[in-house]
Amino acid sequence: AATVSVYFHVISKDSTAAGGNIPDSMIADQIDVLNDDYASAGLSFVLAGTDRTVNSQWFNQVGPDSSLQTTMKRQLRKGGKADLNVYTVGFTSGSGEGLLGYSTFPSDYSGNPTDDGCVILFSSLPGGSTNRFNEGKTLTHEAGHWVGLYHTFQGGCSGSGDSVSDTPAESSPASGCPTGRDTCSSSGVDPIHNYMDYSDDSCMTEFTPGQATRMAGQLRTYRGISI
Ligand code: ARG
Ligand code: ZN
Ligand code: CA
Repeated sequence: AATVSVYFHVISKDSTAAGGNIPDSMIADQIDVLNDDYASAGLSFVLAGTDRTVNSQWFNQVGPDSSLQTTMKRQLRKGGKADLNVYTVGFTSGSGEGLLGYSTFPSDYSGNPTDDGCVILFSSLPGGSTNRFNEGKTLTHEAGHWVGLYHTFQGGCSGSGDSVSDTPAESSPASGCPTGRDTCSSSGVDPIHNYMDYSDDSCMTEFTPGQATRMAGQLRTYRGISI
């Protein structure tokens, strides 16, 4: 087993909760969700610090690959390669408009340590205002990328897919919580309950043993973490 320190960086457009300045209780509840979801993989999380920044440009526009997200992270990032930095923002415009979140992978770290971490929609935390995506599974999913997992639909029906053998191949992302979805005839029914699919939060319930094995390898190789 291993414990990851988590630094939360709350970005808001003003000082109100509706403006992104979420309360400590939501962050505590989010850490609890992570601990529930990763327990079977032997990973736990502890809150190591929270900082708060009012910056409406960052709140609105820190999309994937934007220079603004690098600027933000350079100012706020804490710890080293074994520590998880989480930024909560609004994604109202630019390359991130409408997103729930995005993340770096462990193998990105050596090339670009500054950008390491997860950026998520503030209202996706437990009890947040985003319908169907407000049970904290967005950070579970983004942290899944941070520990080295790909989407279950990676590569579609052929090839190595997500490089995990016990997640049946899937031709495209699932949405909602479809019963009996089976998009690849070559393998089992779609893993719609997997945290690395795109189903609704209430539909997401598992990582597989194969994913736990992959995360352990990725964390050891790239982040110096031994589970
Ligand atoms: N679309 C995002 C991504 O690919 C996150 C999906 C999160 N899904 C959820 N049910 N919260 O990284
Ligand atoms: Zn994803
Ligand atoms: Ca697979």
